Amino acid sequence: MKRNLNGMVAIITGASAGIGRALADQLSAAGAKLVLAARREDRLHQLNEQLGGRHLVVATDVSDPEQCQRLIQRAAEHFGRIDTLICNAGYGLPKPVAQMSLQEFQAIFQTNLFGTIDCIRPAVPMMSKQELRDGFRGQIVIISSAAGRRGLPWFGAYSATKAAQLSIAESLRIELQPVKIAVTSVHPIGTDTDFFTTAEKLSGATIPPRSAVERHQSAETVAKAIIRGIRRPIPEIWPMRVVRILVAMGILMPRLTDWVMSKHRRALGNANNSPNVP
Ligand SMILES: NC(=O)c1ccc[n+]([C@@H]2O[C@H](COP(=O)([O-])OP(=O)(O)OC[C@H]3O[C@@H](n4cnc5c(N)ncnc54)[C@H](OP(=O)(O)O)[C@@H]3O)[C@@H](O)[C@H]2O)c1
Repeated sequence: MKRNLNGMVAIITGASAGIGRALADQLSAAGAKLVLAARREDRLHQLNEQLGGRHLVVATDVSDPEQCQRLIQRAAEHFGRIDTLICNAGYGLPKPVAQMSLQEFQAIFQTNLFGTIDCIRPAVPMMSKQELRDGFRGQIVIISSAAGRRGLPWFGAYSATKAAQLSIAESLRIELQPVKIAVTSVHPIGTDTDFFTTAEKLSGATIPPRSAVERHQSAETVAKAIIRGIRRPIPEIWPMRVVRILVAMGILMPRLTDWVMSKHRRALGNANNSPNVP
């Protein structure tokens, strides 16, 4: 069944930039009522003003479970229901796995994975009690990555958070079938957002332009594909469809995939004057 975007209540984490912001633009234009969440509150208010001021801004750091709980509660109190929860907030930290500190590992999991789960946990009981709207009580959309299906060199910790998000989505989708809450995972490839400059700033590493993480799609294109999957919920959204086939083939041919990935490892190593660092 097709879900009506007009009047739909949607929460977007990471709405202050990139894919989240593009989603906010497009969902707002379709008449959705939005809850805009991220840490940079000034950007959220600016965005809300640009979109006509009818949305709710909730400054949220998803790495804090209490702030996630508050976000879901404020959304439900303000709009009366939650139709779509989009867990999009996240970041990457380019570093070889063996060079990542325990704190860096824990921090990226805290935001990318636990920031997703800590929003889902309070949202599910609320959605479960709602009346059906266009055949669904709600939908949870988890922005994973193509890297959730195949780990990338120098992005091992990031890829692990994205694979964990995918596993959660797969389990949750079946668990929530009886209450008619759809669960969709999203698997973009390189997308032209602040993601790479933020990753470079956080790690001090240089990401070469032509690598596994090369920018391929605009945030607007990715958002458009996601919105198709919000209108008609499907299990997985791959904004660049050919990548889904390549990743599936790569799972059957891991040696060939390793060979392709080793080219990316060399490019990242050379860009950072450490071609053979373990
Ligand atoms: N760009 C790509 O190539 C690509 C590819 C595949 C998947 N993805 C995924 O797409 C999602 C969005 O990334 P993007 O490309 O749009 O990157 P982006 O432009 O850097 O935006 C990231 C968003 O996440 C928010 N965020 C980060 N940490 C947060 C925290 N602790 N609490 C709340 N919000 C937080 C940021 O807002 P504040 O800084 O204001 O908090 C920002 O709005 C991420 O999950 C990413 O892994 C991106």
